[in-house]
Amino acid sequence: MPLRRCKRRRLFICVGLIAVSLVFLIKDTLFVSLFASSFLADEFFFQSNVCPACYGTSLCKQLEGRLWIAPYLTDPRASMKGVRYAEWDRQEGKVKVVTKNLGYAAEIKNFDEALCLRVTGERQCAVHEAVKLFKIKSSEQIPSNLMQSLTVGLNLSDHFHCMSDRLKRKIIGLYDTDRDGSLNVEESQILATTLQVNREPIILQLFPQDEGWPFPQYYGACGRTIIAEYGGRTLESYMKKSWEFRVWLSVQLLQIAFLLTDNSHDWALYLTDIRPANFALSENGQVLVIDAEHVEIVDMQEVDRKQVLSDLELKQEDPECSRNHVRCGIHSSDLMCLGYERDLNFIYICRIMLGFSGYGRLLDNPPVHAKNTIESLLMDCMYYNRHRRRRQAAAELLHYLVTFLPEGPDQDDLMQKYS
Ligand SMILES: Nc1ncnc2c1ncn2[C@@H]1O[C@H](COP(=O)(O)OP(=O)(O)O)[C@@H](O)[C@H]1O
Ligand SMILES: [Mg+2]
Repeated sequence: MPLRRCKRRRLFICVGLIAVSLVFLIKDTLFVSLFASSFLADEFFFQSNVCPACYGTSLCKQLEGRLWIAPYLTDPRASMKGVRYAEWDRQEGKVKVVTKNLGYAAEIKNFDEALCLRVTGERQCAVHEAVKLFKIKSSEQIPSNLMQSLTVGLNLSDHFHCMSDRLKRKIIGLYDTDRDGSLNVEESQILATTLQVNREPIILQLFPQDEGWPFPQYYGACGRTIIAEYGGRTLESYMKKSWEFRVWLSVQLLQIAFLLTDNSHDWALYLTDIRPANFALSENGQVLVIDAEHVEIVDMQEVDRKQVLSDLELKQEDPECSRNHVRCGIHSSDLMCLGYERDLNFIYICRIMLGFSGYGRLLDNPPVHAKNTIESLLMDCMYYNRHRRRRQAAAELLHYLVTFLPEGPDQDDLMQKYS
């Protein structure tokens, strides 16, 4: 009996070893064949037939016959949300991109049904016609105010909590494709559709990467698809890496919190949906905010005009706010618009991404000699302490974390080690 068991165990080990070596041998072929199963995006994929009830047409021509979708390489959770990894064969060379439908299929279907119902009284209709019919009907009713007369009622303040004239002008400028200073009917319909489904493309265009903002590059739209830079794997994949690597990510996150809160452009951008799945590490080593839908924009020039003098921080804490409830805390968008509560990015980057210790976040398990300093700085970044304000604690934490990093070109090795 023991002899038979021993033989069986040996057999298992042999089969296991053979399986592992096989996977190792065919891994490259497997990857290539998965990529080979990509398909060429066509009109049906982009749904360009629904325009102008769509996100735009700026890229349709350039994508024709040039965008290869890799369905099996796409993270399954991402593809459920209408995100697909793809390769775009541009004239300048190939680039990795994502295509985003900006919502679950059910959300997009609801949008179409609501539009049809309003125009035809039926749930099903040709949306590209419906959007035009609605225009005719409503502009007859309210001819003097085109902005209000759109598909689903284009009121920018419904979609941006803190509206200012500067922000309004910038948003309209993005969609004024014929550059005549105002939106024609079709441009308005595209903006209205985008606002109604997901304002992410607007944020990406308002704060472009080539001006230093930490978002993926936005390339444009075709039908119900936008094309953005592939931002890399999300930070969820790096939570268990070495201390040095996690410090490197934490440093970048704190730098993002500072940049978005204070910058020479006088916009404060508050990230209200902070979680590891909404940040990615790009292939050139930059942490990017890949989900921009819930970014709140405050025009600090407007705030300065109102002369807010004190109490800029969030003081109150929900007494129930325990280590298990990182998202709690009371903040008010109205106050944020007025220039208060300027420490939101710090609170949530510290709470959700860096601390608490023991909860599977980036600054878990620091070296013994650094533990007390890091914990004390993290606590003051998360909770109000009038002796050391959050921003101060975040600045000190950033300064301290940088001392753990290799300098200059050695930092590139960090990336190479983990890519
Ligand atoms: N630019 C991007 N680069 C790489 N992956 C992305 C990008 N945008 C989205 N993803 C992937 O798709 C997922 C869902 O996209 P996201 O914009 O966060 O949608 P949702 O609003 O539904 O959370 C992300 O968690 C990420 O895995
Ligand atoms: Mg997300």
